[in-house]
Amino acid sequence: MTDYPVQMDVKPDVFGFFDDDTNTISYVVKDPESEHCAIIDSVMDLDYAAGRTSYEGADRIIAFVTEKGWTVDWLIETHVHADHLSAAPYIQERVGGKLGIGRNILVVQDLFGQVFNEGTGFRRDGSQFDRLFDDGDTYKIGEMDCFAILTPGHTPACMTHIMGNATFVGDTLFMPDSGSARADFPGGDAGVLYDSIQKVLSLPDDMRLFMCHDYGPDGRDIAWETTVAEQKAYNIHVGGGKTKEQYIKFRTERDATLGMPRLIIPSLQVNMRGGHLPPEDDSGTRFLKVPINVL
Ligand SMILES: [Fe+2]
Repeated sequence: MTDYPVQMDVKPDVFGFFDDDTNTISYVVKDPESEHCAIIDSVMDLDYAAGRTSYEGADRIIAFVTEKGWTVDWLIETHVHADHLSAAPYIQERVGGKLGIGRNILVVQDLFGQVFNEGTGFRRDGSQFDRLFDDGDTYKIGEMDCFAILTPGHTPACMTHIMGNATFVGDTLFMPDSGSARADFPGGDAGVLYDSIQKVLSLPDDMRLFMCHDYGPDGRDIAWETTVAEQKAYNIHVGGGKTKEQYIKFRTERDATLGMPRLIIPSLQVNMRGGHLPPEDDSGTRFLKVPINVL
C-alpha cells in the first residue's frame, strides 16, 4: 500500500467506448453521488490517406452523456497520444468540461515543437489546456475526489488518474496478456516506465485498472478492465516479480523491432496542441507536416 489518498469505497460508474480504427478505449466516468462525469482519452476519426477528419466516435460519447443529462466536469488526456488524435476540443465545445493533462506536456511541446519546426505561433507553455496536473494533484468530479500521479516512461507527460476504486493507467500498462507500452518514443525510457508501473502496482490489490488500448492478442475478445492483483500475478512483462533489469532488457529489445504507429505524425502535431489542428495558412487550409527521416 501507499500513502496515496485512495478511497476504495467510492465506486464510480465506468463506461468504455472502443475505437476499432486505433484500438483505443475512451472512458466516461461518473461520480456515484452526483450527475457529474469526466471523459478520458477521446478519439477524433482521421482518414489519413484522404486528409479528412470526422467525429463519429466523439459524437457517440456526446450523445451518451447528453441523453443521461450528465454534467461533464473534466476532459482528461492521460498523455500525448502517438497513435490517435484527441477529440477533446470538439467535445468541450459541445458539452463543456475543463481539459487537463500532465504538466510535462511542456517537455513534449518543446521536443515536438522542434521535431516539426513549429514557429513562434506554437505556444509551448501548455496554455492549450485548462489544467496542468502535477504529481499528486487532486481534483473533483462532482463530489468524488480524484488524483493524478506522474507515471512517465512511455512518454514524459504520462499520468495515471485515480478516481475512487477505478484507475486509468493510460499506456503505462496493457492487459496482463499484452504487457506494457513501448518506451522508445522521443522522451521515453524503459527504466522510468518500470518504476512508474511499480507505482501503479502499489495501489490496493482490488483496485480496478482501465487500459487505454487493447489489441485482442491471439483472437481473444477486446478487453480493457483488470485489477492490480491480476497485473502483479500475470502481466507478461512485469508480473511475477520480474526485475527492473529484466524489464529494461526485454523492453529495449522488443521496441527495436516495432515500426512507428500509423498515425504518429498527425497525432503528435494535433495532440501537442490539445487536440487542435494546426492553424490555417494564408490559403485558408490547415496542413500537417511530414518530417522526412526524423522520427
Ligand atoms: Fe500512448
